[in-house]
Amino acid sequence: MEDLREDLPMDLVAALARARSPEPPGPDTPAGGAVRTWPGPPRPLPSAGPADLDLGALLRLSLAAADDTGRLRPASSAGALHPVDTELVVGAGCSLPPGRFGYDPLRHRVHHLGPQPEGTPPGVTAEFSVTVRRTVSHYGHRAWPLLLLDTGHAAAALFLAARALGTDKPEVRLGGVAESPLAAVRIPPPGGRGPAHPDGGGARVPDLPGGPPTPAELLARRSTPPPMPGAPSQNALQAVLATAERAGAGDLNWCAAVGPPRPALMALSADGTALRRYAAGEARPTLAAWAAGQVWLADAGAVLLAHGCPADADAAHIRRAHLRAGFAVHLAHVTALRHGLAARPVGSWQQADLGAALGAAPDRDWVVHGLALGTRHADEENTT
Ligand SMILES: Cc1cc2nc3c(=O)[nH]c(=O)nc-3n(C[C@H](O)[C@H](O)[C@H](O)COP(=O)(O)O)c2cc1C
Repeated sequence: MEDLREDLPMDLVAALARARSPEPPGPDTPAGGAVRTWPGPPRPLPSAGPADLDLGALLRLSLAAADDTGRLRPASSAGALHPVDTELVVGAGCSLPPGRFGYDPLRHRVHHLGPQPEGTPPGVTAEFSVTVRRTVSHYGHRAWPLLLLDTGHAAAALFLAARALGTDKPEVRLGGVAESPLAAVRIPPPGGRGPAHPDGGGARVPDLPGGPPTPAELLARRSTPPPMPGAPSQNALQAVLATAERAGAGDLNWCAAVGPPRPALMALSADGTALRRYAAGEARPTLAAWAAGQVWLADAGAVLLAHGCPADADAAHIRRAHLRAGFAVHLAHVTALRHGLAARPVGSWQQADLGAALGAAPDRDWVVHGLALGTRHADEENTT
């Protein structure tokens, strides 16, 4: 088995500073295998008894390779590289016996890694780590923020799958405390609560506006190919911002850049019931330049932005901000699709010091993640 710790960064603060610099990445390098090599024989996921948490269904809706087209997961991922690896710590009340398992998303099989740790609660805890090489293969020194964002997206995919299957109280750990696992989602068995995480880091996340997703909604989620013109309606933009704020509160702030007739950065009002002007002026061409020169962003109907994570943030803060941003943008993406919008995450940002661009002190308020939004048909446009 690969030693994942080998490629964890010694200095995440320096890695983020370099990823944010204008330095271009070098040529692509080999990405390695699409799936981490787990030890031992693969085992199928058994069908679930009536009282059991159906791990097979849960993984199919979130992390299993989706179809025969080479798509590696139903969740989004920078460059479609899918660096996130999942270990399942299985307690009582699941369709697998208790133990620790590595998950192979291509074959939808598990590998038994050992017994469950003492005190494992009922249900399953999915622990996420990353194979750094996969994202480095294309993004080079820009990989680390993307690896963290991707992990947040994977955690959100599993959280939504649990809600789609009617699981009552999934708990999400995006505290940024550890390098490995980076994040975890705990899903209790049907009707079960079990104790909260001993580290106290588990958080209950509110549902999407309009309620939990359906399984079909999750399997149909895609990133719309650019271009993405057409301003979202006030109502849709408000729902997307509200989803992001509720899921990604804490270290991050949220706003959305919109174009004519009144170009501005919009944010949610304090009571969450309306949009307010956060800053006047056209930001989208600057955002296009900051996002590795993706020119199509200048004409996107709107660009949702997670911002914060100052230059002096320590490693735990950097992990937390990026994990939460990925998690919240994933939920915002599903909300956008629900409102009939086109949407695509945008995760690679250089020199994107939003605070300084708005005239505040430099190095305090950087773009962390984004979601480009548009209307599916330009003739359905509404202005914001
Ligand atoms: C963290 C993250 C960053 C991304 N950044 C970009 C980006 O900068 N530009 C872009 O066109 N797509 C970006 N994407 C979208 C991916 O290319 C897309 O998720 C991937 O191709 C898989 O397609 P799917 O989302 O339709 O499953 C990003 C996705 C994630 C999760």
